[in-house]
Amino acid sequence: MPYDRASVARYFDEFGEREWTRLKESPVAEVKLHVHSYYLQQYVTAGARVLDVGAGAGRFTQVLASLGASISVADVSPVQLALNKANATTYNFAESISEWAEADVCDLSQFADGAFDAVVCYGGPLSYVFERRGEALSELCRVTRPGGYLLLSVMSLWGSIHEKLPGVLATDATENARIIATGDLRFGTTHDTRHQCHLFRASEFSTLLSGIQWDILALSASNCLSSVWGAPLDSIRADASRWAELLAMEVEATKQPGCLDAGTHLIAVLQRPRPLNVG
Ligand SMILES: C[S@@+](CC[C@H](N)C(=O)[O-])C[C@H]1O[C@@H](n2cnc3c(N)ncnc32)[C@H](O)[C@@H]1O
Repeated sequence: MPYDRASVARYFDEFGEREWTRLKESPVAEVKLHVHSYYLQQYVTAGARVLDVGAGAGRFTQVLASLGASISVADVSPVQLALNKANATTYNFAESISEWAEADVCDLSQFADGAFDAVVCYGGPLSYVFERRGEALSELCRVTRPGGYLLLSVMSLWGSIHEKLPGVLATDATENARIIATGDLRFGTTHDTRHQCHLFRASEFSTLLSGIQWDILALSASNCLSSVWGAPLDSIRADASRWAELLAMEVEATKQPGCLDAGTHLIAVLQRPRPLNVG
């Protein structure tokens, strides 16, 4: 079953407001928000022109705005775009947004070559497009200027299993074996309203990225130490210094090659090479 844009858009249209709340709903979710934001803080500077593709309801659009970026927001879901606009107004970051565009990451033709200093594609558009991920990656590269940055995150196979293990083990073993063999979380038809995406191994993600021959500046999991601790983290979250200590440990640990497969997402930062100045 090939990638179906309409089915992805429908899924996120129906997902609605939860896309705004989900990264604040628990300490584990907040760790993911923090690690993803850490890379935005490292590579996005004030005044940068940034494309936020698959921006959803705007959690990372808001972070980009706080960094002083000028942002083009793009998403395949009209409902998520409307939520992004509403949140930008409610939380006072609308003046950082230059446009809200309905677009598929596989076809960014409405944006010019090299138009952006940084392109952010967080939270899985490269996972949602299944077999078209190479095409999508080419489009993301095309719109990044020479010397500019590409910040990506995709869904992780082993990290998702790690976080959801009891649910995985309650699922049919043949189905689990198929998902593990292919990385594809797919169900019967494109009208199935369940979450469908490609789950990457860290090695597979690295292979995909090395194909474009850009400098890979960072590879990280979205979380690892805290992934399965749930309720015990509530008291840590309530203690500012312990919480800061955990976040710092997470940023450090998630970079370790041995931890890459441990979080629900894999994060990468790449830099487009500048042309050689010969003569
Ligand atoms: C899980 S949400 C992530 C939102 C936000 N970027 C984040 O990381 O929290 C995925 C978003 O990507 C959008 N999306 C999925 N496939 C896409 C595609 N092919 N092109 C553009 N956006 C897509 C969805 O509509 C949804 O808003």
